[in-house]
Amino acid sequence: MMDRAAAGQSWSATGYRHHAGFVATLGRPVLELLAPVAGERILDLGCGDGALTAELVATGAEVVGCDASPELLDAARARGLDVVLADGHALPFEAEFDAVFSNAALHWMTRPDDVIAGVARALRPGGRFVAEFGGMGNVAAITTALRAVLGEAGIDAFAMRPWYFPSPDEHAARLERQGFSVSSIELIPRPTPLPTGMAGWLETFAQPFLRHAPAVERAGLLARAVRLLEPALCDSAGNWTADYVRLRFRAARG
Ligand code: BEZ
Repeated sequence: MMDRAAAGQSWSATGYRHHAGFVATLGRPVLELLAPVAGERILDLGCGDGALTAELVATGAEVVGCDASPELLDAARARGLDVVLADGHALPFEAEFDAVFSNAALHWMTRPDDVIAGVARALRPGGRFVAEFGGMGNVAAITTALRAVLGEAGIDAFAMRPWYFPSPDEHAARLERQGFSVSSIELIPRPTPLPTGMAGWLETFAQPFLRHAPAVERAGLLARAVRLLEPALCDSAGNWTADYVRLRFRAARG
């Protein structure tokens, strides 16, 4: 997905599958909103390791995946998928897709107007853009805890905005400015169980914050963030839930 690299994030396909395998499973509703038709040509933007791309292929669509992580693309190729390395801010496609689909990737792309312009170029006239990603308020508690522990370590993280989490109004306006008509857009709070706990989530996704701390201090800061979050996001049986809020939309290119 872009740009995760630009956001200071690197990826291991094994670590992603272990700590974040739920991402593809929970992406089924946005696949339903896409309603792929056999024979359609679809771009999966930010396909990652291809878990959901493979489900799209199973519907009979002709699917190309793109992502900016070579490690995750290797895992997608190992599933036999057709994927290309591409930065979501500079998509290299011209009027060749019936639909662009994206799950849990757009929040890594912090220049959304560039992304939308590339999607508009990639679509045929009338083509649809259907996606779900983090919306306004997503991981607010987790972000606050990370800012707090970095602040205690003397690092000002208040201005760090490594992810794009817009409101429906903001994102719809961006789409409409580039000629899309938006048929649905909604914010969906979706508390999300974390199979490997908060430590697993932070280890997988919090690099854009933690990389600002000296390497020797990172494990301690991560443990401190876990302790801060425990009263809010961990139940009495030790089960962790992330404070996810999804933004899901369907738009069509004019
Ligand atoms: C998300 O899917 O909402 C997300 C994942 C990693 C970092 C930030 C948000």
